[in-house]
Amino acid sequence: MKKRRSIADAAPAIAAAVIFFLTDMVLPPAIAGIVENTFVVSQVNMTHLCKETLVTVVNGQLPGPVINVTEGDSVVVHVVNKSPYNMTIHWHGVKQRLNCWADGVPMITQYPILPNQNFTYRFDVSGQEGTLWWHAHIPCLRATVHGAIVIRPRHGPSMYPFTKPHREIPIIIGEWWEVNLEELDMDLRYFVNDHFFSASTINGKLGDLYNCSGVVEDGYVLDVEPGRTYLLRVINAALYSEYYFKIAGHKFTVVAAGANYVEPYTTDVIAIAPGETIDALVVTNAPPGSYYMVALPSQPPKPDFQSPVLVARGTVKYADNHSPRNGTVALSSYRGQGGRGSPAGDVPVAPEMPDNHDASTSFYFHGNLRSLQHPLRLPAVPAQVDERIFITLGLGSVCRRGKSCKRGEGNEEEFMLVATMNNVSFELPAAMTPLLEAQYYHGSSVETLHELPDRPPRVYNFTDPALIPYGPKAAQLEMTSSKTMVARRFRYGTTVELVFQGTALMQAESNPMHLHGHDMYVLAQGFGNYEAERDVAKYNLVDPPMVNTVLVPRLGWVAVRFIADNPGVWFMHCHFEFHLSMGMAAVFIVEDGPTVDTSLPPPPVDFPTCGHADNPTPDECYLKTKKSESPRVNVF
Ligand code: C2O
Repeated sequence: MKKRRSIADAAPAIAAAVIFFLTDMVLPPAIAGIVENTFVVSQVNMTHLCKETLVTVVNGQLPGPVINVTEGDSVVVHVVNKSPYNMTIHWHGVKQRLNCWADGVPMITQYPILPNQNFTYRFDVSGQEGTLWWHAHIPCLRATVHGAIVIRPRHGPSMYPFTKPHREIPIIIGEWWEVNLEELDMDLRYFVNDHFFSASTINGKLGDLYNCSGVVEDGYVLDVEPGRTYLLRVINAALYSEYYFKIAGHKFTVVAAGANYVEPYTTDVIAIAPGETIDALVVTNAPPGSYYMVALPSQPPKPDFQSPVLVARGTVKYADNHSPRNGTVALSSYRGQGGRGSPAGDVPVAPEMPDNHDASTSFYFHGNLRSLQHPLRLPAVPAQVDERIFITLGLGSVCRRGKSCKRGEGNEEEFMLVATMNNVSFELPAAMTPLLEAQYYHGSSVETLHELPDRPPRVYNFTDPALIPYGPKAAQLEMTSSKTMVARRFRYGTTVELVFQGTALMQAESNPMHLHGHDMYVLAQGFGNYEAERDVAKYNLVDPPMVNTVLVPRLGWVAVRFIADNPGVWFMHCHFEFHLSMGMAAVFIVEDGPTVDTSLPPPPVDFPTCGHADNPTPDECYLKTKKSESPRVNVF
């Protein structure tokens, strides 16, 4: 399914490579290649926990295929939709410079790929190295339609800013769902909270903590040789939870986050939220034996809703007949870390995990990341800020369509819970034209936009735990409006500072906030309420990490900056699927700059505008959709 070829006829690329060769004789010339993949989306039966489940996957695999590129390559992916669902694929974290058309968000950047239709994505991966991932951007289907994107240095693995690893292994943390994911999305939309996943997974395997009628589930096994360095590319593809990830008896050296290198940071635990990717080295210097790797979902404590703690477990297994290269490690040095098991016996050593309600381990893990001095690192943090937006994240309630209601008067049927930014909840509009297309051809005449406010309607003690259980206090503060296309428009090159403030409104969840098309400088985070006078002093303006997904800690805040220099229409949303389905989302529209180099080019020739392969002219399409009372496009 995969081809790799050089661009033999790409004269400019070769010319560039030759110039490069002449100016730097140390490195071999690297010619950008084209990495071509075909993704056939279909449904297959898989059996876990004694139950056969129909799952939607790419090329029959779960997780789906890895896209392997070297920095600077062009990627072509032909998506063939043989599933019964509408489909798009989003290349999570790929910057898509001047290429918003390939971003894969239904009704924002493209019309969804209907069942039995095809669509080809074309994009370059440049200025980024490390791990990203791809996933369906159809609500909930990303639980099974996902895979890794591995970006290696253009001049080969010797160019890693760390020890060249012996092997590189994607570790995808996910969930096994037995419920129909389309129904799950409907339930999330209407906040029927009676569905839950059945197990956590590592690379699609549940592990030996799960069994059914005495049959133990397979776990993911990583076979290692002693005394080697392995690069784990850890991805959280789960819909629901942040995870803690550990390997008994071993430490991690974190070297990249979100395909940006970080200062090597040594830790025995990785904290990873949905949408985040963390690259970490592991040296196999423990006594030969077997060691559990554990992925533990974390959640806020009561009074938040408590979900079952579903842990995935795999094994790191040393090859026999080897002794550690780095000499002997005293038995006590790993026994202390772990608990049960014996390195020599069959029972693997188990790591001691953080408490599943622990928020501070995640806070410190994220707070310890610093970006590494590296040629690919973006310029210093812009000191000058053009626009500041303070965004509260929480839950609220709105009346169901066509009803008027007042919450708390025994009329539970009439309203529904939604997720909000500054008390506004996002809804897809009833248009038939994707927003990017409307914006490209009709610019500011796009009517369905509602501005995301600069701040919440009221200032209050955002993180007051008394707001978690619904009561009169929360009722006063949660007043919400549901709007189609909550958006902000930015002039090209605007430096934007966002402060995300978590609230206690009806829950105390963290929020992994993901921005498409841009990386964000993470300046500071804190628990409690953000106070500019106090907290600006904490900003790291020297070496902040750059990420596409920033974790807003539970009942805390995060401050980020980004430069709106990629024209297009970019989704910005919480990467918890329930928050996204419930409306914690907005679009950032970045206008064209003054030159061709700073403007979004027209859509690719084979891009089906107006949702049709027969390409009506944009004006025909626009008029048609304006007239028609078309129902809201269901992305399914
Ligand atoms: Cu990884 Cu908009 O998503």
